[in-house]
Amino acid sequence: MECIRKVTNKIYYIGGDDRRITMFENLFPVENGVAYNSYFIEDEKLAIIDTVDHSISRQFFENIESVLKGRSPDYLVIQHMEPDHCACIKDLVQQYPNIKIIATQKTVPMLQQFFNYDFTNHLQLVKEGDQISLGETTLQFIMAPMVHWPEVMMTYVPEEKALFSSDAFGSFGALNGNLFNSDIDYKHAWLEEARRYYANIVGKFGLQVQSVLKKVSPLEIEMLCPLHGVVWDKDISYFVEKYSLWSSYLPEQEDVMIVYGSIYGNTENAVNILANKLGQQGVKNITVFDVSKTDISYIIGHMWRCKTIVLATPTYNNGIFPKMDALIEDMVALGLKNRVIGLVENGTWASMANKLVMAKLEKMKNITVLETKLTVKSSLNGTENIEQFVAEIIAARKEETQ
Ligand code: FEO
Repeated sequence: MECIRKVTNKIYYIGGDDRRITMFENLFPVENGVAYNSYFIEDEKLAIIDTVDHSISRQFFENIESVLKGRSPDYLVIQHMEPDHCACIKDLVQQYPNIKIIATQKTVPMLQQFFNYDFTNHLQLVKEGDQISLGETTLQFIMAPMVHWPEVMMTYVPEEKALFSSDAFGSFGALNGNLFNSDIDYKHAWLEEARRYYANIVGKFGLQVQSVLKKVSPLEIEMLCPLHGVVWDKDISYFVEKYSLWSSYLPEQEDVMIVYGSIYGNTENAVNILANKLGQQGVKNITVFDVSKTDISYIIGHMWRCKTIVLATPTYNNGIFPKMDALIEDMVALGLKNRVIGLVENGTWASMANKLVMAKLEKMKNITVLETKLTVKSSLNGTENIEQFVAEIIAARKEETQ
C-alpha cells in the first residue's frame, strides 16, 4: 500500500524509511534509520525526482503506482547516481519504457557502470541553467558538482518555490511520519544528526558547497527538498546559515571537546582531571569521548561544532593508539580546519604520540596547536603542567577564529 505525502499542490513525497539498515554506506551507524527521499511532480507532464535504495524499492513502486493513477511518467530526473538514490532506475525504465531520463553528461558513464544496460534512447542531457516545462511548472537545473559526487545537480521549480537539493541539506534518521521540519524539534537532537551527516558525507567538499550556496541564494525557496531527512517548510534560512558555517569550516560554538584513547584507564583518568579543571574554571558544555567506544562519525560531527579539541592518546606499537590514529586520519581526509588543538600523550616508556600526531596535524590548514603539550608517564602524578595547559585552552577560546 502507498505511503505518500503532499508537499505542495503539485509535489508529492514518494520516498520512504529504512530502519533495518545499521550502517549508512556500510560505514556510519544509523540507529534511527535513514529516509531515502523521492518526489513526484504532477502536471501536464509527470516527473519523478530521483529513485531510492533497493531496500525500500517495494514501497517506492507502490507509491509510484498510487500517484500515477494508471498514467505513465514522462521524466525521471537523476540528480545523483549514488546507489542509495539510483538503485531503481533500471527497474523504473523497464516498467515505464517511454520515460525520459533527465541527467548531466557526467551521469552517463555511471549509468553504464552500475547497470550495464543501454539507456541511450531514454537520455535527455541537461546542463547549468537548462529548463524543461512540465505545463504549469518548470524544472530548472543547477549543477552542484562534488556535493557529493561529480555528476550531482539540483532542480528548482520556481512556480512551487521548491528546491530539490540532492544530498545537500539532508540528515540521517528515518522520518517517522513527520515529513516537514515544522513538525519536529529541528534545533536540537535532529540538528546533531544533520551535522553528523554533513561533516561525514559532504564535509570534505566545503568549497563546492559554498559555490552552490551562492548559486541558490537568489532563489525564492519555500520548500527545501533533500534526498534524506525532513523537507524544510519553515525557517529555511536557519539551516542555510548552518551550511554556510559548516562549509566554511568555522566552528559553531566556542565549546571544548576532549577525545581520548585509553588502554587501562590512565589516560581516561588524566582526561577526567583535565575536564574537571576546565569545568572549575567556568568552561561550559564540555564534551568527552572515548574513541574506542564512540563511533568516529559522531566525534567528527562534534568537531564541526567545537572550536577547541583536545586529543589524548597513548603511544601504541611506537605509534598512535590505532582508534585515535583512524580519527586523526579522518580529520585530515575531511579537511577540517580553523580549530585549536591541545595534545596529551601517555607512555610508560618512549612516548611518541604527540610528535606523531603533530606530524599529521601539519597536513591540515589553520590549525593552532597549543604550545603546552602534556606528557603523562603511565599515570598523572601532578608534574605535567596541567594548569598551564588549562590556561592555554581558556585563552584560546577567547581568540578570534581565523
Ligand atoms: Fe545520499 Fe551521496 O548519496
